[in-house]
Amino acid sequence: MKKCMVMYVSSTGNTEQMAAAIAEQARKEGAEVVLCPASALPKAELPTITHWALGCSAHGVEELDGGEFLPALEQIEPYLRGKPVLLFGSYGWGAGAYMKPWEERTRLTGGLLCGEGFVFEGAPAEAAIEEGKQRAKILLAQ
Ligand SMILES: Cc1cc2nc3c(=O)[nH]c(=O)nc-3n(C[C@H](O)[C@H](O)[C@H](O)COP(=O)(O)O)c2cc1C
Repeated sequence: MKKCMVMYVSSTGNTEQMAAAIAEQARKEGAEVVLCPASALPKAELPTITHWALGCSAHGVEELDGGEFLPALEQIEPYLRGKPVLLFGSYGWGAGAYMKPWEERTRLTGGLLCGEGFVFEGAPAEAAIEEGKQRAKILLAQ
């Protein structure tokens, strides 16, 4: 059975909204879903995950969040090799420039990127939520 972890960090709830939509769609696709903030990563589950959706908003100067997200990501990365990975996150003013280095980092771990990282501005509009759900469908189809 497919088992999808949707792990995210979200300071004002924007990326969290998308995480919830992706998780809901992944369940509709028949996957078991583990939805968790980076601060509550269930480490025992990591070896059992077949599909990954990782969400982080733009922090610092076009960076990932170093407080909670990066420590969690470092624990996850050994399990990404050969697995489909969807990256997503909200940005404020940078048009999502932080996503490119994250995509490259994911490739280097051996994760199979599910398209380009999915970025959206601020709180996700309905169209963004729909795109997130489409991305989740594509992720779980792999
Ligand atoms: C400390 C801090 C740093 C930020 N750095 C960036 C940035 O480099 N580029 C950008 O586009 N937005 C930046 N933002 C804006 C957030 O990414 C944006 O508000 C986003 O919608 C927050 O999503 P979240 O609620 O999921 O964390 C920053 C916000 C904060 C508070």
